Amino acid sequence: MPASLDTIVNLAKRRGFVFSSSEIYGGLRSAYDYGPLGTQLLRNVKNEWWRSMVQLRGDIVGLDSAILQSRQVWAASGHEASFTDPLVECSSCHTRHRLDKLDNQDLCPNCGQHGTFGEPRQFNLMFKTFMGPVEGEADLVYLRPETAQGIFINYENVRRTARLKLPFGVAQVGKSFRNEITPGQFVFRTREFEQMEMEFFCRPEEADEWFRYWTSERFGWYQELGMSEENLRLRPHGHDELAHYAAASSDVEYRFPWGWDELEGIANRTDFDLRAHTDASGQDLSYFDEASGERFFPYVVEPAAGATRATFAFLMDAYHEEEVEGEKRVVMRLDSRLAPYQVAVLPLSKKPHLVAEAEKVADMLRPHFMLELDTTQSIGRRYRRHDEIGTPYAVTFDFESLDDRAVTVRDRDTMDQDRVSIDGLIGYLHDRLGS
Ligand code: GAP
Repeated sequence: MPASLDTIVNLAKRRGFVFSSSEIYGGLRSAYDYGPLGTQLLRNVKNEWWRSMVQLRGDIVGLDSAILQSRQVWAASGHEASFTDPLVECSSCHTRHRLDKLDNQDLCPNCGQHGTFGEPRQFNLMFKTFMGPVEGEADLVYLRPETAQGIFINYENVRRTARLKLPFGVAQVGKSFRNEITPGQFVFRTREFEQMEMEFFCRPEEADEWFRYWTSERFGWYQELGMSEENLRLRPHGHDELAHYAAASSDVEYRFPWGWDELEGIANRTDFDLRAHTDASGQDLSYFDEASGERFFPYVVEPAAGATRATFAFLMDAYHEEEVEGEKRVVMRLDSRLAPYQVAVLPLSKKPHLVAEAEKVADMLRPHFMLELDTTQSIGRRYRRHDEIGTPYAVTFDFESLDDRAVTVRDRDTMDQDRVSIDGLIGYLHDRLGS
């Protein structure tokens, strides 16, 4: 079983992965700031996604569209009318709840009273703001609730300029905003979060096959980055669960401390979006197939992942406690591609000449690896800290190093130690890290 939520929240705060936003003012519920380690971990998750979805493929290109888009985008996509959740308010304690997420729809989970909910109302999740100095209806814009629409409205720009032929994909990573009724479970559900979405455009008759392909690819991605098989599952959606635009949908789910919950959704969105934007904008977003002479609207298969949510799941999954020589050891077994630091450089003592030499080793390694030079505390505590934040290798510069020009390299997982010459250190670490 994964670690408890409290354990991860405490570690995240104590070590500098994630802080509550606006903490010095009492915190802003449901927004979080990523500290030095969290920033690096999140960045690595996004980089790995980009590498597998864009860099390693010849059929997918990237996009970075604006968060603020014309209001008409959200009218055409259906978000203005139906991106809603059913909200109920308790007449006794005045808390608000998402009706469809309540185990008992008659019982207030906050005050425990029965029959205190008023009539449910549909609450639109899009954040509103105003463009320019006037705060009128005509100037209203939304913060995007998904990155996907930025891709659909640029479909023709991208296809034409990148000279793409079907099938092809457009990938985007970026912030999205949803005024969730019940944010919670740390960074699992927040009102500001990051998504990693790819829209794969294909011929309509090939969409089922691409849907199966992308479901399996995306499920495999988490495992390939070290997430345990027993904590991952695929859950196909029933017909009553499908979004208004989807013909088929499956979720990749992770076993969180509160149960199985969504990490990523893969959907066959049909030609809903390209048709909707064609109708609303008057711009023809159909595709002309030169080989067959046909004109049609491509179908879209969409793997939609949460970057912040995946980062959280990787952290949960990597957390391990074990007993070493009668003491508890906490070790974050993060894949080395995700770990905030690949290497820690540790002078054995704070003696200035040892620190100066360790600094030279750190300077030599820095262009190759993300590293931390750590000169605080005893060597044992520094090892423990780096185990806990997931640093795969610790390089210790000791008194002998001054003579033999070699250092001790300690492996986070096995705790085995190797003596390695400083001259061969870069190659040794590259080999072990597979970088
Ligand atoms: N374009 C389709 C789409 O946005 P979604 O299932 O609503 O689909 C995709 O969102 C992913 O974005 C989710 O699987 C989840 O990982 C992430 N996500 C959605 N809402 C979130 C929130 N409030 N906080 C954190 N992540 C969220």
